[in-house]
Amino acid sequence: MPALGIYIHWPFCRAICPYCDFNVHGAHHNQTSDDDWRRAYRAELQHAYGLRPTGKVETVFFGGGTPSLMAPDLVAAILADIDALWGLADNAEISLEANPVSAPRPHLQALRDAGITRLSLGVQAFHDDALKALGRTHSAGEAKQAFLAAQDIFDTASFDLIYARPLSAISTNQSAQEMEAGLAAWQEELSAALALSPQHMSLYQLTLEPDTVFYQRAAQGRLAVPHEEMAAALYEVTQDLCMAAGLPAYEISNHAMAGHYCRHNFAIWHGADYVGIGPGAHGRLTINGQKHASMAHKQPHIWRAACLENGHGWHNLTALSAQEAAEEAVMLGLRLSDGIAVQDLAQRGVALAASKLDALKQDGLLMRRDDVVQASPRGRLLIDYIIGRLLV
Ligand SMILES: C[S@@+](CC[C@H](N)C(=O)[O-])C[C@H]1O[C@@H](n2cnc3c(N)ncnc32)[C@H](O)[C@@H]1O
Ligand code: SF4
Repeated sequence: MPALGIYIHWPFCRAICPYCDFNVHGAHHNQTSDDDWRRAYRAELQHAYGLRPTGKVETVFFGGGTPSLMAPDLVAAILADIDALWGLADNAEISLEANPVSAPRPHLQALRDAGITRLSLGVQAFHDDALKALGRTHSAGEAKQAFLAAQDIFDTASFDLIYARPLSAISTNQSAQEMEAGLAAWQEELSAALALSPQHMSLYQLTLEPDTVFYQRAAQGRLAVPHEEMAAALYEVTQDLCMAAGLPAYEISNHAMAGHYCRHNFAIWHGADYVGIGPGAHGRLTINGQKHASMAHKQPHIWRAACLENGHGWHNLTALSAQEAAEEAVMLGLRLSDGIAVQDLAQRGVALAASKLDALKQDGLLMRRDDVVQASPRGRLLIDYIIGRLLV
């Protein structure tokens, strides 16, 4: 049985950012004791164990929301439950996402003592005005302090940045000078970020997600983001700077020094099983030889009540069809710098038509080296389009 990862979702944040569409809820809504949370997480872990009991747990990922708001005792208790069920591998990678506002050094140390080995900090920007525009409640200085502490304390410390951020002036027709100034500003910010010697960085281009404040503002003409050409140029500059600093991309948005990939996400992107625990968490489990997708209730109180009453908060556990499994494998694989091995996919029941691969290669969107297919630099910006042509 292949290695297993476990994702634990903590759904609360002190403030909800105007661009974020994750399953997040204001922390002031959390009136539940940690004992009750522990009971709910434990019940769902036991349920998942009943379905997929084999294989040691190689990675755990506490994501959110803002899991740095969790009490270290709760984190330790969840890890103890995982260890008692599947067993945690000796060198397990245990990641936790943190917000600089809830990451003072003693708290980070307590999380380390609870078992966290890898911290991923949501910095978003290293300029105070940009942080304000993103609706963040911390300064660049506070984010930097939190990151320096994380570097001292954890085996791996990573930070997230968002680029291609809203433009300060609303102009849909960006001039060459504006483009140059935007590129230079990002180059300077990223260079300063790289000077902190991170082992890992997640660099996301801002996405305007439906049902967010930013999306509404953009629809009303009150917010503009860089146009496609500018976004592509920002992406190129990002790749060049990170490569030169020894942190090449191993996935579209993820960069790492050798030996510091996020093992949890890397395994998922290669199709490994993972258990999704907590409100709104998704999972992928091989049951009786077939990949299944689990989906949990998003509302924390509904999820918790379901866990306590039925032993789990999943409202859906569905077997993936061959087409769904194929789409997922190709979509994840093309986001990886390693690309996808055609033979590997074929063994998983996913056949890619040679004629379609050739056509996409001719259009400059895919590259092929023997058995391996990779998205070209231009193709990486058009993954959805490629999938559409490859799989339909
Ligand atoms: C769960 S959060 C990280 C931890 C913590 N909640 C925080 O924000 O500090 C995951 C990351 O997703 C990224 N993100 C969220 N919404 C995004 C969007 N609309 N576009 C690009 N990146 C986004 C941010 O970089 C964020 O740090
Ligand atoms: S970006 Fe992070 S802090 Fe902001 S709402 Fe999303 S999960 Fe919460």
